[in-house]
Amino acid sequence: MRLYYKIMHVMFVSFLLFLNVSYASDPREWSPTWKLPPEKRPENIVDLPITVPGDVRISQFFSPISCGACHPEIFKMWSGSTHANAWRNPLFQALYNLGKKTAEGESEKRNIESCVRCHFPIGHSGAETILPLDDEKGGVICDFCHSVRATTGIGNAPYILSPGNAAAMEGGTKYGPFADSPDTIHKNQYSELHTRSEFCGGCHDVSHAGNNLPIEQTYTEWRQGPYNTGDPKTTIHCQDCHMRQRPGFPSTGSTDRPDNPGFASPEIMGGKKRPHIWTHYFVGGSVTPISLPPGSELQPQMAVDRLKNAATLEVSVDSTSKKGDLLKFQIDINNTGAGHYIPTGLTEMRQMWLKVMVTDADGKIVYQSGKVDEKGNIDPNATIYHTVFGDEKGKPTLHVWAATHIISDNRIPPQGKKEERFICLIPTDVRTPLKITAVLHYRSAPQDVVDALLREKSIKLHIIDMAEISTEISL
Ligand code: HEC
Ligand code: HEC
Ligand code: HEC
Ligand code: HEC
Ligand code: HEC
Repeated sequence: MRLYYKIMHVMFVSFLLFLNVSYASDPREWSPTWKLPPEKRPENIVDLPITVPGDVRISQFFSPISCGACHPEIFKMWSGSTHANAWRNPLFQALYNLGKKTAEGESEKRNIESCVRCHFPIGHSGAETILPLDDEKGGVICDFCHSVRATTGIGNAPYILSPGNAAAMEGGTKYGPFADSPDTIHKNQYSELHTRSEFCGGCHDVSHAGNNLPIEQTYTEWRQGPYNTGDPKTTIHCQDCHMRQRPGFPSTGSTDRPDNPGFASPEIMGGKKRPHIWTHYFVGGSVTPISLPPGSELQPQMAVDRLKNAATLEVSVDSTSKKGDLLKFQIDINNTGAGHYIPTGLTEMRQMWLKVMVTDADGKIVYQSGKVDEKGNIDPNATIYHTVFGDEKGKPTLHVWAATHIISDNRIPPQGKKEERFICLIPTDVRTPLKITAVLHYRSAPQDVVDALLREKSIKLHIIDMAEISTEISL
């Protein structure tokens, strides 16, 4: 029966294309990338229509600052996060506006329409066509996440929202991890979905809205990886790493992820002492004031802490080499701390690469690769771990809306490793011992791309050292 409808649908669309009629798509067709089998789903992953533009109004949602009146600590953490910045983020805005100007054809345009779904989800659901950048309800806000009653699966934001009505001061119901919260200005409802990766996977799994090309696959990478054991007692969800982090506790796959006892709301407001409060810093690899909102104080250092606990390096040398011979060595990069590939997310932009140096006893450079020049360009001989998308003509592109296929993807899976081999000539006049040093670098995006997108507002992006190793060889 389903196949029959599929065939009829294809015939119908082909017919419209034949007539050259534009096919006004039903927004309810924003299907998730895939559905979970019923036995694997939390109760609130359902087969019901998702929320589409016009189902709710922005005025129904509370601004984060009003939630902050009773949840001051959580508000402070969230305020410095990329979630708070997801709409006004200048890099996002530059790419989004470029897409609006240059996208051609139904498929590309449909993909550009999709950006708002995740970067300003209540603006999208409220069908507000004028979306001021400084709107305090912009980005991924408290009352979006906690008004999610259910989803229909994974990817492309398949959310079903059930907000209260801020305009009428009706708090509505907030969905969260507690089953025994007292009613307050809002009611409370336990949501298993919120305690699992599937909640994050609604947005952190992005497919091209026109041609279904997988663009961001963080949830899928996690689901297929070792942190998803299939056993609820041992599975390590996104929240276990990303919502346990706080200063001093990077909370990664290679570090402890201790509980954070405290109050969700001060006792005088009705909060109870809890063995664990989930933190809301939402830290990834972003450290710049482009990605982070103005005034973000803790996140930059926390992102460095996270990156420094994501990977380790090993070096092995072919010890038979002598002066005048070829020196052969290998550097292994191990993904020891991330629950998904490194890097993940916006992987066509993210850059991870090795800087390798061989020096002699006087510090004279015998070999080097992976250096960055004054303009911020990485040595073209270095391997960059990232994804390259191709467009219709087969050319590499950073314009996701124009992407039709993946040209290459050499990132490192969770608990997986990559081996890189190096070879160089040892001059006869070097002073031993030789020293091999390798540093694993991370940068959020290529400098020239950000310079081109942000022009005079561009900034120099930080390069973070994720891991370092060195060894001496006496020959
Ligand atoms: C008048 C004070 C007040 C305001 C305003 C307020 N909350 Fe609460 N909220 C509380 C209290 C008290 C609790 C209970 C905490 C506990 O059980 O320890 C709570 C609990 C919660 C929970 C946990 C629900 C559960 O069952 O797991 C969530 C989520 C939540 N609030 C979100 C929000 C959001 C989002 C806003 C803004 C729209 C908001 N709150 C505004 C007082 C408030
Ligand atoms: C990206 C989605 C998201 C945003 C934005 C968000 N939260 Fe949460 N929040 C969660 C999730 C998920 C949990 C539960 C995690 C778990 O159980 O594994 C949670 C837990 C909570 C709780 C229960 C106490 C705790 O922290 O364990 C409260 C209260 C809460 N959030 C309030 C807020 C407020 C207030 C804001 C805005 C300042 C906010 N949240 C923003 C997703 C979000
Ligand atoms: C409504 C969609 C949405 C939901 C739900 C969501 N996120 Fe996000 N998240 C985003 C967007 C969009 C960004 C990028 C914002 C930016 O950089 O401008 C982001 C950024 C992040 C980052 C920062 C990445 C970096 O580069 O520093 C982390 C970490 C993160 N999210 C974790 C989570 C976790 C964990 C959950 C589930 C508890 C979650 N998110 C739920 C949309 C979402
Ligand atoms: C075992 C711990 C762990 C788990 C589980 C985990 N992460 Fe991460 N995450 C990390 C570490 C470490 C980093 C920093 C390295 C990096 O950037 O890839 C990171 C980085 C990120 C980033 C930023 C990536 C970038 O380079 O821009 C995002 C987004 C993110 N995580 C989202 C998620 C989501 C969504 C889930 C669940 C599907 C998840 N993470 C599960 C540890 C974890
Ligand atoms: C299904 C949800 C979803 C959709 C649709 C989506 N994004 Fe994102 N976007 C994300 C998430 C999640 C991240 C965080 C990933 C990371 O940090 O690596 C992100 C990060 C970004 C960033 C990186 C910001 C930074 O500061 O590093 C840019 C730029 C961006 N998106 C642009 C777009 C554009 C343009 C579109 C539409 C063509 C779009 N996104 C559509 C979920 C989405």
